[in-house]
Amino acid sequence: MRIRCISKFATMVTIALASLALLVSGAAVADGDDHDHGETSDAAKYRHTVMEAMGSHFAAVALILTKRVDMPDDLLIHATALANTAATVDGLFAAGSEGGDALPLIWEEPDEVDAAAQEVMDATVALASALEGGDRSQIKTAFKATGASCKGCHERYKEEDED
Ligand code: HEC
Repeated sequence: MRIRCISKFATMVTIALASLALLVSGAAVADGDDHDHGETSDAAKYRHTVMEAMGSHFAAVALILTKRVDMPDDLLIHATALANTAATVDGLFAAGSEGGDALPLIWEEPDEVDAAAQEVMDATVALASALEGGDRSQIKTAFKATGASCKGCHERYKEEDED
């Protein structure tokens, strides 16, 4: 196996996992789509579903990298799925899809949103290719950059779930 566990790397990924757990538990809370948002359009539900898919693939990558599960053969499958799904982010905020946990600001800053969508696309492609290459420091950098690209967009454009 190309990816060996070094403790520093494991710690970093564990921290990333903890914040992912938050992200994913947020998804569970929001799953009913009915907490104080009233009606949610299918377009908004679709966005939410696609986001949850990314959260799941990213969490799966993290679980394998930290060796919490012994599924090395699945690593690239999830990383590739994450990158493929990230390529759709740009199209998730079309006019008429307002609502869900997306803040109205997102429809006022199309250029910034395009940039954020591009960032997550680039970061996830880099993560998949780093995992394919097996270089630990590249994997670490790419993993962090991916998490940062999700977080950056969420902090600005996603409603907080916990209240
Ligand atoms: C372009 C901005 C943007 C990027 C980039 C982005 N997200 Fe999101 N994400 C959102 C918005 C906005 C929502 C709320 C969607 C809704 O409810 O309509 C969301 C919702 C989610 C949710 C649902 C959980 C919740 O608390 O509502 C998960 C899980 C998620 N994103 C994971 C990810 C992951 C993982 C990445 C990075 C690989 C990522 N997202 C990248 C904007 C983004």
